[in-house]
Amino acid sequence: MADLKVLGICGSLRKASLNMAALRACSDLLPAGMALQITSIADIPMFNQDVFDAGMPDPVKPLRGEIAAADGLLLASPEYNFSVSGPLKNAIDWGSRPPNQVFQDKAIAVFSVSPGPMGGARVQYDLRRILGQLWGHVLPRPEIFIGNAASKFDAQGKLTDETTRKLLTDLLVGFKAWIIRMQVKK
Ligand SMILES: Cc1cc2nc3c(=O)[nH]c(=O)nc-3n(C[C@H](O)[C@H](O)[C@H](O)COP(=O)(O)O)c2cc1C
Repeated sequence: MADLKVLGICGSLRKASLNMAALRACSDLLPAGMALQITSIADIPMFNQDVFDAGMPDPVKPLRGEIAAADGLLLASPEYNFSVSGPLKNAIDWGSRPPNQVFQDKAIAVFSVSPGPMGGARVQYDLRRILGQLWGHVLPRPEIFIGNAASKFDAQGKLTDETTRKLLTDLLVGFKAWIIRMQVKK
């Protein structure tokens, strides 16, 4: 059987993003039978319905295609002011417009990373709300909040904290089962 294709998207555009560092670490932690490709939302313009109606601009069209083609979507998001980062919300808005909105029946897993003690917990509930009303199927558990994150990565962005590696591994194992389960339900 072909590997399940997982598309990773990071809600932070920062070069030294801790969320991106954790997303990259997931590549090494995937269970067998899953493949992770990480895409960028850095060049996505601000959503404008006029632009959408005139024909989707170049960075948006391929992003929608990548999401549509993926078996699962893995979102790593910082919490900005207790909610979703502007870049990630903007990317979701682009993907959400009909026809063929790309989150319909998509298996999705989310996690968040923050230097703060709560690990960006609040952003996950907003993401669940947003994606749920788009009929995306967000993995209910395990929930992974990587708090106090500055001490969990080295200067090169390598995840050095074993507990966090284990938490992410558990998330990915759960996500694999969730993707298969959601495909059966389609
Ligand atoms: C505009 C803005 C708002 C922020 N608000 C929050 C917040 O509500 N909760 C939180 O835990 N961290 C907050 N932070 C701090 C981020 O968690 C921190 O910058 C984190 O490193 C961002 O993720 P990244 O490393 O992947 O870029 C905020 C940062 C910015 C730039």
